[in-house]
Amino acid sequence: RLAGDPHRPGYHVSPPANWLNDPNGLVHWNGRYHVFYQYNPTGPFHGTIHWGHAVSDDLVHWEDRPVALAPSPDGPDRDGCWSGCTVDDDGVATILYTGGSGTEQLPCLATAADESLTSWEKDPGNPVIEELPSEPEVLKTEDWDGEFRDHCVWREDGVWHQLIGAGMEDGGGAALLYVSTDLREWEYRGPVLTGDRDTAGTVWECPELLDFGEKQLLHVSNYEDVVYFLGEYADGEFSIERRDKLDHGDFYAPQSMWTDDGRTLTWGWTLEARDVSAQWDAGWSGSLSVPRELSLAEDGGLRQRPARELAELRGDGYHRDELELGAGDSHELDRRSRQFELRATIRLEDADAVELGVLEAPDGTERTPIRYTATNDVVVDRTTASTAPLATTDSQRMTVRPYDAPLSLHVFVDGSVIEVFANERQCLTSRVYPENPDATGISLSAVGGRATVTDLDCWELGDAWRS
Ligand code: FRU
Repeated sequence: RLAGDPHRPGYHVSPPANWLNDPNGLVHWNGRYHVFYQYNPTGPFHGTIHWGHAVSDDLVHWEDRPVALAPSPDGPDRDGCWSGCTVDDDGVATILYTGGSGTEQLPCLATAADESLTSWEKDPGNPVIEELPSEPEVLKTEDWDGEFRDHCVWREDGVWHQLIGAGMEDGGGAALLYVSTDLREWEYRGPVLTGDRDTAGTVWECPELLDFGEKQLLHVSNYEDVVYFLGEYADGEFSIERRDKLDHGDFYAPQSMWTDDGRTLTWGWTLEARDVSAQWDAGWSGSLSVPRELSLAEDGGLRQRPARELAELRGDGYHRDELELGAGDSHELDRRSRQFELRATIRLEDADAVELGVLEAPDGTERTPIRYTATNDVVVDRTTASTAPLATTDSQRMTVRPYDAPLSLHVFVDGSVIEVFANERQCLTSRVYPENPDATGISLSAVGGRATVTDLDCWELGDAWRS
């Protein structure tokens, strides 16, 4: 496991070295939490993809495991074992994933050969679906016979149901439904939801349907964003009540795990925001987000908060009941860290903005302000985040609700990963790469007027990796 790089996350799931993209097959199995992920063991680029594997007993301390799935040289997955999920088939852990070969991407199946989910046997009948659906016609491109991949599988009324992501020849993205009694023979039922190409993207990757009892949530990754639809799923159709982005930053292709106490925990890929040559130099690329608990809020909207287990990582803490900031005041926290959690409630009074500055260099040359503005935006301003020429300087923004109320801000910083939770509702993930090893300062300041910060807590967070 690569170490000694200040940009490497300490408590986020990252590959031991080389490349990671989507989280896959997340499952709580025999009392252990398993995270698999899209992994290229040969370099920090998206090459021939395998399934990497990490396990945890507590959701916060992780251990690397050997590669779980590798392409079979003559198999339908010879060019890559792409994204998929794990289900419990009557006591047998079973993976449905996309096999890539030549110009084809088709569903494949593998079963666990041991209870530690270390080795897997591929089904001799792979691919388990051989033909693309005819209606709607699946989008063909120069490279692909059909944009048709990624799997979300669940059991409903004793029957297996599967969503596969796709693009449509005459439209945008689609989540296509299949049913099966044995996970090996699938019958096509049609699209559960389709999107308009101009507003919802050409292809929907990694569709996932989550059940919150009264309501269901379907999220899809459309090359740009993770869009979620909240509404009602019944009989193969989804009716939308609300839609929004699941995250407003560097977050893609999420997938969820169900805990024994009934929580839905969702991880996303926190993709890099620096040039590929910088990724080559670093020797690694990509990490996963922290697990986020998704649930329904009282008003029927989506609630997102960090999994409570993360509190186990807390070390030294800093607390202030209240901090009054006059116009232009800046308060430096008596803490320096690039691996911490910060929580605060911010009231703007008559300020134009409050800035939480993180990863601040002592000489002021590098600093990432997380800015809450009177126009109700949370902005991660990356213009001064790094002096490195190959890191992005684009800022990211989300408008937070409810309007005009104090902001409850919860921030996780870890090397080059920043995750912002606003009002336990909305999230913004950001990647930043300060060059200065002493860019560890944390400050709060008020811009253009007075502001009050209450219930301020900041904890150093420990390392997650046992090697
Ligand atoms: C999403 C994705 C999936 C695919 C996988 C390949 O990031 O493109 O659609 O299965 O990554 O690595």
